[in-house]
Amino acid sequence: MSAIQTLIRMNVNGQSCTVQAPPMKRLLDVLREDLRLTGTKEGCGEGECGSCSVRMNGELVNSCLVPVLQAEGACIETVEGLATIDVLHPLQQAFLACGGAQCGICTPGMLMAATQLLAINKNPSLAEIREGLAGNLCRCTGFIRIFESVIAAAAQTTATTAQASIPETAHAR
Ligand code: FES
Ligand code: FES
Repeated sequence: MSAIQTLIRMNVNGQSCTVQAPPMKRLLDVLREDLRLTGTKEGCGEGECGSCSVRMNGELVNSCLVPVLQAEGACIETVEGLATIDVLHPLQQAFLACGGAQCGICTPGMLMAATQLLAINKNPSLAEIREGLAGNLCRCTGFIRIFESVIAAAAQTTATTAQASIPETAHAR
């Protein structure tokens, strides 16, 4: 007997999509298997490591714990949505520059957790970064380079925003 399937509508990285899947299938598996968005990684599969972190309606969630039924009508953001076609997101640039990524298994989840943190706090302190990324584990970097990456990305974003807000006449002086 085949498993009951249900139709789920979601917006993933700005694109509307519909998938047919068992309602209790994990969002993680729907992203990776049905939508071929394999950037989101599975670590523990139990909500402990944060490797599978994505944003759902502006909140950070462990996609290994979310039945896809709960994602009906939701806006999902995954690591694939960070970069534009030819420009990495400031966080991705900073992780590269600061050595925040080594084996890479934790990196997509770290990037999404950092995206969530910077969405609510544009200039977090080291303590706030530690707290914001507390649900994400890394076995390679010792965390410091990841924290430095977030600090660098926040500084870059703040500088870019400040530059963009200078009136044209000020640039000309
Ligand atoms: Fe989801 Fe570890 S794989 S929290
Ligand atoms: Fe390997 Fe974080 S870079 S687990």
